[in-house]
Amino acid sequence: MSSTPVKVAVTGAAGQIGYSLLFRIASGALLGPDTPVELRLLEITPALKALEGVVMELDDCAFPTLAKVEIGDDATKVFDGVNHALLVGARPRGPGMERGDLLEANGGIFAPQGKALNEVAADDIRVTVTGNPANTNALIAMSNAPDIPTERFSALTRLDHNRAISQLAAKLDVPVTEIRKMTIWGNHSATQYPDLFHAEVGGKNAAETVNDQDWLENTFIPTVAKRGAAIIEARGASSAASAASATIDHARTWVEGTADGDWVSMAVRSDGSYGVEEGLISSFPVTVSGGQWSIVQGLDIDDFSRGKIDASVAELAEERDAVKGLGLI
Ligand code: NAD
Ligand code: LMR
Repeated sequence: MSSTPVKVAVTGAAGQIGYSLLFRIASGALLGPDTPVELRLLEITPALKALEGVVMELDDCAFPTLAKVEIGDDATKVFDGVNHALLVGARPRGPGMERGDLLEANGGIFAPQGKALNEVAADDIRVTVTGNPANTNALIAMSNAPDIPTERFSALTRLDHNRAISQLAAKLDVPVTEIRKMTIWGNHSATQYPDLFHAEVGGKNAAETVNDQDWLENTFIPTVAKRGAAIIEARGASSAASAASATIDHARTWVEGTADGDWVSMAVRSDGSYGVEEGLISSFPVTVSGGQWSIVQGLDIDDFSRGKIDASVAELAEERDAVKGLGLI
């Protein structure tokens, strides 16, 4: 095992997602069995007592990869020297709400956290925003951290990506491992566009293999895009274990890279690719190598896909304008 622990910050660590995420990170699911991890856990003051209980449980697991745990309510202390920041802490939506309804409540969390990361994080910091509305919260954090390269900020659409893979695999009765090149475009919201036209099943085009435009438009896309709401309706609480798992998948891919012949979905700062307004944090197909992501280039976008991508990007621009109006960026 290497000797210097990698410092991983998790915000909202006493929450639902934290309760699954921390144990996976501590057991090596993020950085592997040979890399010791130091957890830096941020919570609001009233939740620190509950967080102390979670830390007792972490201790009780005796994970060989867990070198140290520090907790606190001061972002500039907790983020000091961190290499990864998983920004989960934010209010979840309840039944009947859209994720955008959380902008005002949650946006205010990400400006001070962006400033704190800018001030004290390690030079190689990588930031993943899971707290909703994730894309625009990542934009807020990025805008408040002018000294951190913009490509170090991302938001989670890997959960949508995994949901899309699972729905497609079930439709075609194939293992999920047969599916490659899935893409989620746009916002982590009901306007997101899960794209089967570039995905592959067993090496063949997914949309052609499905050969059912009605299923694609009226079942697949809405099932993936509204899955979060369906879980809230069924569970009475928003997705937690699957969100934690996708957060690990996202951050691990950022470290390890994508498999040959495959890509993943990540919401990252647009450079204008595929007509997505530059500067918005929008989900794209990306490959990752050497810790750096690149947007996959050269995909043909037909009129159907164009309309879907444009609608989701228009929503991101509206969210950006709203947080500008609130003085958060
Ligand atoms: P939760 O309410 O169980 O936990 C949130 C925690 O964040 C709480 O413990 C709270 O005290 C803490 N918190 C609030 N403000 C904070 C701050 N300023 N600093 C640090 N911690 C703070 O919620 P949850 O179910 O764990 O969900 C967390 C967020 O993740 C929600 O916004 C939810 O909508 C979002 N989410 C996103 C995805 C995704 O795919 N992007 C998936 C699931 C959930
Ligand atoms: C999800 O997609 O499950 C999360 O974003 C939670 C939500 O509000 O849908």
